[in-house]
Amino acid sequence: NNYCVILAGGKGRRLWPCSRDRYPKQFIDFFGSGRTQLQQTFDRFVRILPRENIYINTSRKYLDIVRGQLPEIPMEHILAEPIHRNTAPSVAWAVHRIMMSNPRANLVVSPSDQHIVNDGDFRRNVEDGLQFVEANDALLTMGVRPTRPEPGYGYIQKGVYTGANGIYKVQAFTEKPDRSFARMFMDSREWYWNTGLFLANARYFRQSLSKVLPSLLHTEERKEKITTIEAEDNFMQENFPLYPNMSLDYGVLEKSDNVYVMKCDFGWADLGTWHGLYEAMSKCENDNVVVDSDVILENATDNIIKLPKGRLAVINGLDGYIVAEKDNVLFICKKEDSSALVRKYVNEVQMK
Ligand code: GDD
Ligand code: MG
Repeated sequence: NNYCVILAGGKGRRLWPCSRDRYPKQFIDFFGSGRTQLQQTFDRFVRILPRENIYINTSRKYLDIVRGQLPEIPMEHILAEPIHRNTAPSVAWAVHRIMMSNPRANLVVSPSDQHIVNDGDFRRNVEDGLQFVEANDALLTMGVRPTRPEPGYGYIQKGVYTGANGIYKVQAFTEKPDRSFARMFMDSREWYWNTGLFLANARYFRQSLSKVLPSLLHTEERKEKITTIEAEDNFMQENFPLYPNMSLDYGVLEKSDNVYVMKCDFGWADLGTWHGLYEAMSKCENDNVVVDSDVILENATDNIIKLPKGRLAVINGLDGYIVAEKDNVLFICKKEDSSALVRKYVNEVQMK
């Protein structure tokens, strides 16, 4: 009864200019491992649950990329959203699709922009989590200990211990706090980073989502009409835009009462931002990260460099910067400030 929904419809703007709207980060192999982030996420879940229980949610405009990268996934397992409405509507659709064939499904919803170091620990945590949500009508998140006051993540405060598997009741949740709050959360040791992995049984997902989203799919009248996957897909291609733009974090996590967090230690890094990418990658001399590029570095520390093939960079006297080039854009920016600045430039220069 265990299923996985991989979310791969984000625009990946925060890794601009290497991640672009027409080809976002989840479809890129940043580590040069031969597998893109989406493929690595898929590989990780194939080791945990039956391959035929894996679904990919993406945008219609990335459908061809997904099919190209995961040819083994049947078409009925790829949900192609006609418009960007963020993660809550996306999961609502996946829940419906999966319940059509198995109303007793347990789901793990996973982002496709993260790096996991210890696959064995990850697997054990996911299995324990799936057992928990099979037995409990609750939403379970996976938390890891913060290592820096990152304002770009969600923070989860643990409450009472359930007594098993490192699972605590959630006391409070704050999505993307400002830096001073993030620092306070980090120092208090009661708060965890939200990894963006969400587990619940399908019925509970449906119930929590129906509180915050208009019920497009679940009215009695619809149930009679939507009996095949084809009918459901046609219906959603037309009606998906009626959903509001809402993330699971703001829409469900912040608003639900019955939320739990599992304290995890599988070695997690978010690959959605330059800073996250820097932390996840192995460092060469003087703490520089050189992603698949040709560089001569002198008197330079703590930088991350990603250039197109065939380009040589000579960098002298630079500390704590991102140097990234892709197609028609060269981006040089202090690492610390990158999250906010990327957002600004990507909109201003309209080079999405
Ligand atoms: N199918 C689909 N449709 N997928 C989407 C959509 C959508 O409209 N929007 C985003 N996604 C996918 C992204 O591709 C990514 O894999 C995942 O959903 C999460 O979206 P992000 O846009 O990357 O979210 P975030 O990084 O700002 O924040 C989330 O992740 C953090 C950790 O990486 C939150 O869950 C935070 O609380 C969390 O700390
Ligand atoms: Mg992200």
